[in-house]
Amino acid sequence: MNEELEEYILSHIDVEPEGLARIDHDTHVQNYYWHMCSGHLQGRLIKMLTCMIRPRRVLELGTFSGYSALCLAEGLPDDECRVDTIEINDEQEDFIREHLALSPYGKRVTLHIGDARDIVSQLDARFDLVFIDANKRQYVEYYDLVMDYLNDGGFIIADNTLWAGKVVDPKAQREAQTRGIMAFNDHVKADPRVEVVIIPVRDGLTLIHKLPSL
Ligand SMILES: C[S@@+](CC[C@H](N)C(=O)[O-])C[C@H]1O[C@@H](n2cnc3c(N)ncnc32)[C@H](O)[C@@H]1O
Repeated sequence: MNEELEEYILSHIDVEPEGLARIDHDTHVQNYYWHMCSGHLQGRLIKMLTCMIRPRRVLELGTFSGYSALCLAEGLPDDECRVDTIEINDEQEDFIREHLALSPYGKRVTLHIGDARDIVSQLDARFDLVFIDANKRQYVEYYDLVMDYLNDGGFIIADNTLWAGKVVDPKAQREAQTRGIMAFNDHVKADPRVEVVIIPVRDGLTLIHKLPSL
């Protein structure tokens, strides 16, 4: 999207809350991979989708700096509802905890440090909404795993599913991350248990609805 149009959009949607603007700023200053942070537009979308779904339990795979975890938490119906978020990189832990503590929604979030593929089954919980945003090579594994813990009628949101357009670039299709995303997109499309739509916002956001079983 060109810069002018992006500025226009950002000036015509909800203002980015102060705590999230701080995370975005601190991530840019302190983290080489700052571009992984969801940011203003996608963050407001995640918050609004969460408001629409009204989940009581949310799971996030890939916390990074905590931006999207707080957007999910903000969209929850009340303080009894929870977000469990999992981050494999323990070097992120202090940053995440510090920024969760500064947010009015931080108390709705429980951070788990470790590999999502080990931790999900240990949570002993079922979820109404799952946000998949961890290692792109492992998206099919995450999907198969979380489908077992997703309530009927629940939703999955998966980030980066257009992967900067590389999914349609023959030159990029040898890369492991591109192949991971392409395998995920094919896998979900072939799953009769779900409805699926891809929104071309930012790097591509896939919305998946687990159909109630008959
Ligand atoms: C794209 S970033 C997440 C961005 C964040 N959700 C947001 O929107 O602001 C991906 C994160 O997933 C983490 N990650 C990668 N593999 C993981 C795994 N197997 N389990 C948990 N976290 C993982 C990475 O360390 C990284 O911090």
